[in-house]
Amino acid sequence: MNVLLIGSGGREHALAWALSGSSLLSKLYCAPGNAGIAALAECVALDAANHDAVISFCRDHSVAFVVIGPEAPLVGGLSDALDAAGIKHFGPSRAAAQLEGSKGFTKDLCAEFNIPTAAYARFKDATSAQDYIATQPMPIVVKADGLAAGKGVIIAETRDEANAAVDACFSGAFGQAGAEVVIEEFLTGEEASFFALVDGTYSLPLIAAQDHKRVGEGDTGPNTGGMGAYSPALVFTPEVERRVMTEIIRPTVAGMKKRGIPFKGVLFAGLMIGPEGPKLIEYNVRFGDPETQVLMMRLKSDLLAALLATADGVLKDFDLRWYSDAALTVVMAADGYPGTPKKGTEIRGLDRAAEVEGVEVFHAGTRRDGDRIVADGGRVLNVTARGRTVAEAQARVYEAIGMIDWPGGFYRRDIGWRALERG
Ligand code: AMP
Ligand code: GLY
Repeated sequence: MNVLLIGSGGREHALAWALSGSSLLSKLYCAPGNAGIAALAECVALDAANHDAVISFCRDHSVAFVVIGPEAPLVGGLSDALDAAGIKHFGPSRAAAQLEGSKGFTKDLCAEFNIPTAAYARFKDATSAQDYIATQPMPIVVKADGLAAGKGVIIAETRDEANAAVDACFSGAFGQAGAEVVIEEFLTGEEASFFALVDGTYSLPLIAAQDHKRVGEGDTGPNTGGMGAYSPALVFTPEVERRVMTEIIRPTVAGMKKRGIPFKGVLFAGLMIGPEGPKLIEYNVRFGDPETQVLMMRLKSDLLAALLATADGVLKDFDLRWYSDAALTVVMAADGYPGTPKKGTEIRGLDRAAEVEGVEVFHAGTRRDGDRIVADGGRVLNVTARGRTVAEAQARVYEAIGMIDWPGGFYRRDIGWRALERG
């Protein structure tokens, strides 16, 4: 079958790489794609926000299945438009995408269905939010309700900082996303990202990974979309997985169905594993970036078959196999990230890097300029490797990075430190 993949990041390059291995695939298109994806798929300049254009493209090119990578087209209702046009797709409806699109929606769902998460309150004006802050212990977490590209979360150590965060939200620092604010209890523990495919009724656990959100070594500096990840996550024991499935994922899937907005797609749970067990920090309604890069390296089964089973509602009879090997990815970012990244700098040595055993170099923000590959985003490359252990995967990644000649970029040298510290 012909498949159209929507997106342009490292997550989509990893998905394209896994989809390319499927015996079910005839031709892969990617909109808009990037210079790395272009080696696996025909990249097309389609705007995912233009639903009619996507539908026409699918009809003209006999596309039987659309895989939607990022959250914005999901929250924008691309799935609903494809449904109405009778085109099969992977990714939830606009209503179900509220699990990512509105933090308040998710918190209310947790409260209704008894899903463990941080205590919270929702506010539509600064005064009542600040009155509430005055009664709460510090630190406290202030969140813009809507999609804010990972920037709408402020962890406040003092009431002054929390009050300033509330003022920033209501004065438009995050645009429409900040029209409502969620204030949460600060959770302690270790974070993990866990994924499950959900077909509306049934949820099939995938595997867990750990991300490194801060830009600087030793987990310092501002938050980013993620500077590296690895899997398995040692904190995510079989017992933790069992609890996450029974206490968090399954009640969410049942709750969404009960509300008449069943979730179909991949549910990405950001979790805090603390003294009382796992608690939900937030949901995303898409694969993680860069977690997907390590997930795809560990996936043995046919990804396309799994995504089709999700869309067809037949996950109950589906089985997925994984390599027991570890995988690790390091993000190479353009100077300036997570602020304004410098674009257009040349990257050399990618072919040599890809020859290191077990390594795949996924492109996250690149563009071809004649014979050259140039940086075209904040997160630019995801150098990824499989190995018997996290330590071996890490050594392979840094060996490959050593072959990449890119003076305009930087990366963290300590990705995977938690796993290595535990031996
Ligand atoms: P989010 O965008 O909701 O995943 O938040 C971004 C990051 O902020 C998370 O990965 C956590 O590190 C942190 N965070 C969010 N909510 C909380 C919370 N209630 N307690 C502690 N840390 C949090
Ligand atoms: N790596 C976190 C995310 O994809 O949101």
